[in-house]
Amino acid sequence: MAHPTHGTDILIIGCGAAGLSLALRLAETARVVALAKGPLHEGSTYYAQGGISAVLDVGDSIESHVQDTLIAGAGLCHPDAVRFTVEHGREIIEWLSAQGVPFTREPNAEGNVDYHLHREGGHSHRRIAHAADATGRAIQTTLEERARQHPHITLHDRYSAVDLITSRKLGLGDNRCLGAYVLNRETGQVEVIAARFVVLATGGASRVYLYSSNPDGSTGDGIAMAWRAGCRVANMEFMQFHPTCLYHSKAKSFLISEAVRGEGGVLLLPDGSRFMQDFDPRLELAPRDVVARAIDHEMKRLGAECVYLDISHQPADFIRGHFPNIHAKCQEYGFDMTREPLPVVPAAHYTCGGVMTDLAGRTDLEGLYAIGEVAFTGLHGANRMASNSLLECLVFAAAASADLRGRLRQIPEPSPLPPWDESRVTDSDEEVVVTHNWLELRRFMWDYVGIVRTDKRLQRAQHRVDLLLREIAEYYGHFRVSADLIELRNLALVADLIIRSGLERKESRGLHYTLDYPTANESAPPRDTILVPAHFAGKEWGPRWGD
Ligand code: FAD
Ligand code: SIN
Repeated sequence: MAHPTHGTDILIIGCGAAGLSLALRLAETARVVALAKGPLHEGSTYYAQGGISAVLDVGDSIESHVQDTLIAGAGLCHPDAVRFTVEHGREIIEWLSAQGVPFTREPNAEGNVDYHLHREGGHSHRRIAHAADATGRAIQTTLEERARQHPHITLHDRYSAVDLITSRKLGLGDNRCLGAYVLNRETGQVEVIAARFVVLATGGASRVYLYSSNPDGSTGDGIAMAWRAGCRVANMEFMQFHPTCLYHSKAKSFLISEAVRGEGGVLLLPDGSRFMQDFDPRLELAPRDVVARAIDHEMKRLGAECVYLDISHQPADFIRGHFPNIHAKCQEYGFDMTREPLPVVPAAHYTCGGVMTDLAGRTDLEGLYAIGEVAFTGLHGANRMASNSLLECLVFAAAASADLRGRLRQIPEPSPLPPWDESRVTDSDEEVVVTHNWLELRRFMWDYVGIVRTDKRLQRAQHRVDLLLREIAEYYGHFRVSADLIELRNLALVADLIIRSGLERKESRGLHYTLDYPTANESAPPRDTILVPAHFAGKEWGPRWGD
């Protein structure tokens, strides 16, 4: 059967805030194809609650936002990336408003209508612009609608990118990204998309853990594809756990926004007493690593299944007005947050590390960009500050679009690329292997590579991931690809990168906390953990499988 091939100027893999905003910014000058591996809206963006941080209040300043971000990042933020991102905050909120995103507004002291701003952990000011408590949904649906209407943007849902196509893989000299192999999930065929430039906007990898606030598709595909194509990956040990996800067997780690704590919500032990005063003077609004670790500590100390988040002291109308979606969702599960504390636990939430890029989103591989959660720009350091992620997605999409527009005509029309080779594989006879491996991986990552680590736990996890990687490589070599197999293969590789990075860091810093080295190493300047693929650097510790 003929395998369809497509050609375009820009191929964007991912249709969240990063991918869609880039598509819209480029569409006047380029033909854009953008892919989502499930339904178009199904990425972390859609589920974002709190909002986007930006300096919008007269009492706030760029300097203050920069300082708060640096403090939350525990010495590892790149100051140039922080300043660059923060300085574009207002412009991004205005761009989103112009696209039609319905930010919540309120009259200010002068009687004009301004953005209503929330406060979240680590921020010393109110600076979170939001659309009630469903900011992500407002951004995703607005950008999606705009993109669907644009004649130069082709959107494909249910297309899973399998791997990047590079000139090195084709034996064509200097290494450059030429396109991607993508699985059309409707037909089961792997198609070829050739492009002048490819942009990874595939989101994070928090689904490598058993419990996560993220949708199922956060499987680190972009990080794994970039690594296999020769890109460096940095700071993968800094996986962020959100302190407050609803504890309920059916709630799938539904997030209770940090904005609830910003509006006065307090954390309680099962006996009703507060505990954050024992951990940090900033109490419930300390940065996330501190709050999640404090909760984990108290749950383990008491053998408790959860702690509680209580905002019921605020008027019911205030709670329903500020948090209509969270309130309604909790009611579905039988909790009334206007009258009682909510049971909460931490869950994996955000990938601070990722594919290394510069301030224009360029990766190590010529022709390949990475933007949004998949990327490591240096903004977040060892711990992302709340609501800086959507900002990063939108700022770096704008920066990449400016860079791409300047380079587009320097690259010739893409040439046809060889089709996907399926001559040596058959249909799988044991799909259940994928499900079993998937569950095993997520469980040992949760047990051994979670909020509190030790070298021994990391080594145990390393041993298990080594076995899984070998099994998956063998399976991948023999059977046709499926959407599940693509994700499992990527998750296992990303788990390997997280564990290796954790083992390299001989200190506790930000989100990486290990009982073997419980404090930060102050005797040397803090450094990023940079992993280099073997074929890229001639190092012996690159991937042992993959390409
Ligand atoms: P996503 O929005 O995750 O989109 C990824 C896209 O890539 C999807 O379209 C997916 O289908 C596609 N994709 C992935 N792999 C493939 C593949 N192999 N082939 C084809 N397509 C692929 N941040 C904030 O700043 N403020 C908040 O209030 C906030 N709240 C949050 C609440 C929740 C519950 C969660 C989960 C996250 C929250 N975050 C928040 C984090 C923030 O939402 C994400 O970091 C951000 O939305 C990531 O956007 P993105 O465009 O990089 O990726
Ligand atoms: C939240 O609303 O608590 C999530 C904010 C974020 O992840 O930045």
